[in-house]
Amino acid sequence: MRKIAFVTQKGGSGKSTLAISLALAAQEAGERVFLIDMDPQRSLGNWASAREGNELPVEFITPAKLPRAIAELEKSKISLVIIDTPSTETPAADAAIKAADICVIPARPTVFDLWSSELTRSKIKSLGKEFCFVLNQCPPMADSQRVQDGVGALEAMGGLLSPLVVSRADYQEAARYGLGPTEYAPEGKAANEMRQLWSSLKRRFNKMKSAATKEPAKIAAKKAA
Ligand SMILES: Nc1ncnc2c1ncn2[C@@H]1O[C@H](COP(=O)(O)OP(=O)(O)OP(=O)(O)O)[C@@H](O)[C@H]1O
Ligand SMILES: [Mg+2]
Repeated sequence: MRKIAFVTQKGGSGKSTLAISLALAAQEAGERVFLIDMDPQRSLGNWASAREGNELPVEFITPAKLPRAIAELEKSKISLVIIDTPSTETPAADAAIKAADICVIPARPTVFDLWSSELTRSKIKSLGKEFCFVLNQCPPMADSQRVQDGVGALEAMGGLLSPLVVSRADYQEAARYGLGPTEYAPEGKAANEMRQLWSSLKRRFNKMKSAATKEPAKIAAKKAA
């Protein structure tokens, strides 16, 4: 079971929107997804109430109960857990970082978001966890200098997921109906962005897995030398 946490100290950068949209893109690709809402604002819980049918489970879980909940999910058929966290440094964000295999840090292409991303990255690194960035709410002209500066800064900090996520009405409209873009406008650009984002994350998971399996071989080779 893979675990992703959306984390950043910066409010409004798109954690909840991306958690939902990615969850549905991954589900479309065959994953059995479980969404965990750790934000007292309960964005995911409210979104789920607007949703007809409950084929995508969403549960609010407190930091103290998270390790147990994850252990239970490990025993189930769930293949992917996506955790949404509150902004600012809270026990919920810490618990989510510790539980995740990889933390995704969304940032808008603004200096305030980029500065904040640096703080979040340091926190995740101090907990010894993997992380990557996603640039969200980019203007449609992605080749603007502001976006390119954002790309450069996040790549320098260690790993930017593709694609750049553009500011699109589909993300907001889909959420209004308790949907993700892949359901609301399956042929739309937002839907395709989310499919590509899931592919990028899957590639990262595969890389992490092959690095982890190579590590014992390296240690054995050193011992034999
Ligand atoms: N790619 C996007 N295109 C258009 N609107 C977006 C996009 N991403 C996020 N938004 C909008 O930006 C606002 C903030 O997004 P969201 O609530 O997902 O951020 P958040 O990081 O979860 O915020 P909080 O820190 O309050 O939890 C919302 O109104 C959402 O609809
Ligand atoms: Mg949120």
